[in-house]
Amino acid sequence: MDICSLLLLFLASFFVASSGTCDAFSIQEASVYDIQIAFKQNLLTSRELVKFYLAKIRELNPNLKGIIEVNPDALFEAEKADKERQVNSYVPLPYLHGIPVLLKDLIATKDKLNTTAGSFALLGSVVPRDAAVVLKLRQAGAIILGKASLSEWANFRSLTAPSGWSGRGGRGKNPYVLSANPCGSSSGSAISVAANMAALSLGTETDGSILCPASFNAVVGIKPTVGLTSRSGVIPISPRQDTVGPICRSVADAVYVLETIAGYDSNDANATREASKYIPTDGYIQFLKINGLAGKRLGIVRNPFFSFITDSELTLAFEQHFRTLRQKGAVLVDNLEVPNISVILNSTSSGEATALLSEFKLSINAYLEDLVISPVRSLTDIIAFNQKFSDLEMLDKLGQIILLSAEATNGIGSEEKKATLNLEKLSRDGFEKIMRDHKLDALVTPSPFCAPILAIGGYPGITVPAAYDTTGVPRGICFGGLKGSEPKLIEIAYGFEQATKIRKPPTFLL
Ligand SMILES: *[C@@H]1O[C@H](CO)[C@@H](O)[C@H](O)[C@H]1NC(C)=O
Ligand SMILES: *[C@@H]1O[C@H](CO)[C@@H](O)[C@H](O)[C@H]1NC(C)=O
Ligand SMILES: *[C@@H]1O[C@H](CO)[C@@H](O)[C@H](O)[C@H]1NC(C)=O
Ligand SMILES: *[C@@H]1O[C@H](CO)[C@@H](O)[C@H](O)[C@H]1NC(C)=O
Repeated sequence: MDICSLLLLFLASFFVASSGTCDAFSIQEASVYDIQIAFKQNLLTSRELVKFYLAKIRELNPNLKGIIEVNPDALFEAEKADKERQVNSYVPLPYLHGIPVLLKDLIATKDKLNTTAGSFALLGSVVPRDAAVVLKLRQAGAIILGKASLSEWANFRSLTAPSGWSGRGGRGKNPYVLSANPCGSSSGSAISVAANMAALSLGTETDGSILCPASFNAVVGIKPTVGLTSRSGVIPISPRQDTVGPICRSVADAVYVLETIAGYDSNDANATREASKYIPTDGYIQFLKINGLAGKRLGIVRNPFFSFITDSELTLAFEQHFRTLRQKGAVLVDNLEVPNISVILNSTSSGEATALLSEFKLSINAYLEDLVISPVRSLTDIIAFNQKFSDLEMLDKLGQIILLSAEATNGIGSEEKKATLNLEKLSRDGFEKIMRDHKLDALVTPSPFCAPILAIGGYPGITVPAAYDTTGVPRGICFGGLKGSEPKLIEIAYGFEQATKIRKPPTFLL
């Protein structure tokens, strides 16, 4: 919040009908809180907000390629929100009312937008309904701005495709250093909020797909406990690992989004019923506490991750951050190691690859069968489509080895059951054991190295901007916790963010 909105908030608390004006309001880098204050003070309409982002998209997206499609009805939805706000000027509206949200192109919308996982194979398909998280956004009055680019099929097609590439979207660029990796698979969601082409965005994660792009684009990503947010209407990889979460410029913005999308959904009943017991009665906003780090026990895992980080700026920054965490009252348990980490980091030896391949085949086939209209109805059809339209899908260069390996599976047999049991054992004897043995509130690593540890057990994590390397590429810090520990992770992430304030807007270095 800037000084101007603070002043207006202060005035508003004395003068109910305060008609303060303040032309210093800037949409660039504005938070949900800033925007809601500006709405209240009549400094901004949803229409102006959407127009700002549409202009930014026209200016930046031809180069950055963070967005595949813009919602042709976004301005109309904004006008509707403006009218609702006028009519309800004395009623508190939901946090996201009138605010545009960008969705990863895996998340279905029943409107003029296509939902394609970045692939031409799904262009023209018609979904049966909005994804459950989209319905929750619409019910809260949020505006669907468009679909974000991504690594095609959430990076489950090719082992050689560059991060952030899809047939329909081309290759998304990192707005900090245009030649640098934006990371995937929710690349466009992170690129777009980082570059102020959208206020808020949703990504999805199976293993690193929120935490990694958020880390490399200096934004915040929350990877919720699996099942805390519904996956129905989301193009799947694995019901055991998939989760939908926010990618935003600040912890508070991401928490407003999480608050809106979390909860039970009858179309993803088992997982959301199980996880919804973790949702606090009074929601998540209450955990945005300035002193959130006080008394928290944080386990620092250096080995092997610090050997992957050779950049001197990053090394310095992380050491400084550990001192800051201590100064803010956290207890650091340093030099921890996750048991069997080398197994966890190798998806072949952990069993993750075996499990995901057959889970993908089953769940993508179920998703495709549920579509109202679709050019492809099975994994077999997708593979054939890529062969037929090999130029569009760059088949000769990138192949489709993961799709072919998935096609060769045959349900959840004894190998897959063994793999899943091994993943559970690795989590129980690894991550869960050190969390319990050391009574930790969170495990801390540079992002995205926490991702596979959290992915295989369905645990939550939050990444917060932490540093820029010597070439200017951003890096995040990851806080991971046990299932349902979002309240603690939010306190820690918010406390860290407020103590450090590392995020700055991108400078588009070549
Ligand atoms: C969705 O795809 C169709 C082509 O099948 C295209 O004509 C249409 O413009 C797309 N929708 C949006 C919002 O871009
Ligand atoms: C949900 O759980 C029930 C009871 O355990 C089980 O029978 C059913 O197959 C599960 N449904 C799905 C979609 O996994
Ligand atoms: C973990 O490591 C221990 C000893 O290093 C080994 O005995 C055990 O089999 C490993 N567990 C898994 C699941 O790989
Ligand atoms: C991962 O594990 C598999 C099987 O255990 C092994 O063949 C492969 O070389 C390992 N990969 C790496 C990069 O260490």
